[in-house]
Amino acid sequence: MGTIITVTSGKGGVGKSTTTANVAVGLAQAGKRVVAVDFDIGLRNLDMILGLENRIVYDSIDVMEGRCNLSQALISDKRDKNLYFLPASQTKDKSALQKEKVRELLETLKKDFDYIVIDSPAGIESGFENSIFLADEALIIATPDVSSVRDADRVIGIIDAKSEKAKEGKEVKKRVVINRIKPEMVESGEMMSVDDVLNILAIPLIGVIPEDKKIISATNLGEPIIYDKNSLAGEAYRRLSRRILGEDLEFLELKAKKGFLGIIKGLFS
Ligand SMILES: Nc1ncnc2c1ncn2[C@@H]1O[C@H](COP(=O)(O)OP(=O)(O)OP(=O)(O)O)[C@@H](O)[C@H]1O
Ligand SMILES: [Mg+2]
Repeated sequence: MGTIITVTSGKGGVGKSTTTANVAVGLAQAGKRVVAVDFDIGLRNLDMILGLENRIVYDSIDVMEGRCNLSQALISDKRDKNLYFLPASQTKDKSALQKEKVRELLETLKKDFDYIVIDSPAGIESGFENSIFLADEALIIATPDVSSVRDADRVIGIIDAKSEKAKEGKEVKKRVVINRIKPEMVESGEMMSVDDVLNILAIPLIGVIPEDKKIISATNLGEPIIYDKNSLAGEAYRRLSRRILGEDLEFLELKAKKGFLGIIKGLFS
């Protein structure tokens, strides 16, 4: 049986879809059979990040409402034979998902895939609940700012209340990914550090992703940054994926690039 990993955050725009795409590719590159599932009904963009938007014919709502079967809706990624994608509907609103239909769909996917990586919508409404209730693991994405960390904390507090695992007396494995770290701002005290965030959230860290302009161009090209061997964010996502598989890897050392003033200061310190 496969493992369901739900990518969630509370706050919007912090990197859920980017992380879902990169983790799905990373796990597939490690030889696992993976499906990335977009549960952000109505606002899908995982398809764009994966570069698969032109291949969509059917979506998960079509499967759940019987207009097609699952294999008609699943899109296989030509770059990696282990990777599949199940799109969200763009036209239907979030309330289109029904819990029992979602259960049927996810239980079928669990039989066929090693990992089901779910991209969830922002917020803690029904779309979030549908994304989390069958999760085995959750990746909580936070950016190093007060509002994102507060929302992440709130989400961590309600995951178990919404999960079926918790009803059976088990816990959803919850780990945090800190995204968009800018080392120079952390060093100058303008941005929360990784430790500041962890002190508030009090769950284990599984990834630290630096701010990287290449992520924006990667999204426009439909090539997740993890494919870019020269990008620091790509390396951070490679390590994150391997940690999910149980490897104990060091976190990247993110240091501020020294400008002229920084070099002069360094000489006299
Ligand atoms: N580490 C990063 N460096 C630079 N840009 C990033 C980084 N992570 C995400 N972004 C950019 O931030 C924006 C939001 O990212 P993304 O769509 O993954 O967030 P989201 O949490 O899925 O948003 P929503 O809640 O709207 O679904 C995108 O333009 C993305 O390219
Ligand atoms: Mg998103």
